Amino acid sequence: MPAPIESADRWNTVQQLLHWLIVGLILVQGGIGLVMVGLPKRPGVFAVYDLHKSLGLTILALALLRLGWRITHRRPARLPMPRWQQRASGLVQAALYMLLFALPLSGWLFDSSTGLRPLFWWGVLRMPSLTGGPAPAWRDALADLHQGLFWALVALAALHAGAALWHHRMVRDDTLRRMLPGPRRPRSQ
Ligand code: HEM
Repeated sequence: MPAPIESADRWNTVQQLLHWLIVGLILVQGGIGLVMVGLPKRPGVFAVYDLHKSLGLTILALALLRLGWRITHRRPARLPMPRWQQRASGLVQAALYMLLFALPLSGWLFDSSTGLRPLFWWGVLRMPSLTGGPAPAWRDALADLHQGLFWALVALAALHAGAALWHHRMVRDDTLRRMLPGPRRPRSQ
């Protein structure tokens, strides 16, 4: 049975917290990734790679938590909007969820395929190799996949954020407001 929610009108506190935490961490993580690949390959660069990998695995864990919470807790009622918009937003949200898993998993797969150094989560938890050892034949394809999934996430997240802002500023409904903390103030149409 789904657990009770705080309000039928808005996303609950945990959903809001996970949403904005994951947004913030992906912004930081994307920045680290883009800078990291351009750094000269000196021993000190390993620390940046380790940070990127641990943060990426943390995002994967948060995505799992978020999906679990989403499945076991009700979402707020849908706001009135044309059917095509409801369909489109549902498709984009489903694709965003898939990318939240596929992107860190592709990074982990790439890292496993190199077989260079064992993977530790924050230096503590030894993570298994997803390829069962070095897989040089897959290395380049997995690096391209990781990069491609990142840009797909950037494009979809921009569409998702743009739609939320359009609803807030132009349609003047509660789409964005109900993912933010604070009391709900009904907006005039
Ligand atoms: C949501 C999580 C993640 C995001 C947003 C992300 C983002 C990125 C970005 C933007 C790049 C640079 C791509 C390029 O321009 O070539 C990159 C590279 C890389 N990422 Fe991630 N990443 C994530 C998770 C992970 C995880 C979990 C791992 C490993 C456990 C990982 C391992 C790597 C490695 C090794 C590279 C360097 C690839 C190369 O040398 O070509 N990433 N990542």
